[in-house]
Amino acid sequence: MLPEIVGFPDAEAVARHAASEFVQRAKQAIWDRGVFRVALAGGSTPRRTYELLATKEFASRVEWTSVQIFFGDERAVAPDHPESNFHTAHEALLDTVPLHTSQIHRMAGERGDLAQSAREYEAELSRSFALKREQGFPSFDLVMLGMGKDGHTASLFPFTTALGEKSAWVVKNEVPQLGTDRLTLTAPVLNAARCVMFLVAGADKAVSLERVLEGPRNEIELPSQLISPAGDLLWLIDEAAAARLSRKPKDPTELKSHPA
Ligand code: 6PG
Repeated sequence: MLPEIVGFPDAEAVARHAASEFVQRAKQAIWDRGVFRVALAGGSTPRRTYELLATKEFASRVEWTSVQIFFGDERAVAPDHPESNFHTAHEALLDTVPLHTSQIHRMAGERGDLAQSAREYEAELSRSFALKREQGFPSFDLVMLGMGKDGHTASLFPFTTALGEKSAWVVKNEVPQLGTDRLTLTAPVLNAARCVMFLVAGADKAVSLERVLEGPRNEIELPSQLISPAGDLLWLIDEAAAARLSRKPKDPTELKSHPA
């Protein structure tokens, strides 16, 4: 599927549109299949989206009892650590909306053995999607992603071993440039999604965004280029991040699926 690259004046507008997409995609998935399975991202732009989703304006339009929350990646910290992606989502959204703990599937980043955490998360996905590994990859209704200024996404960092993963759903990824390990969904799982939505804002992303979207393919250096899902691919970007693009991003009103 060709990416839809959609432009907004600022990070707040990106976050608002992302919240509207979440609401609309949840409605459609619950109507079609009775459940909405979403993988959340870490980072600052997604955080604002979670805060908006927790407000009455958005939260009242989601049938939360039919939502299952997952994570695209996690840092090697405890769930109450400020750097934990779970902690961010919990504070901004999960603690406010009516979700039972059984609907929230977090990655155990606090474990000494992250490879074991990855296997356990795979088992949890397998149960939740009622899918065995030999049957293919789980297909999220929505995967939210950020992009780092080095071109990474989820915890798929440049030159790391997880980039080459073809069969596992979740892996521990050693990230020497950060001197740490991370947990991450793999590219084949991200690409099995019905919709992947990137949220990118800020001038510090402009150079890598231009390279990812308009430069030659170089997935090892720019892991965001690995994302090419079977379903929809949306890039929601603000003016500062889009500054170096040669093609003007679309206006949101031009989207076929323009959320109300
Ligand atoms: C993480 C991420 C990561 C993030 C990007 C963008 O846990 O670090 O999931 O991929 O989304 O680094 O983050 P910002 O939106 O804060 O720039």
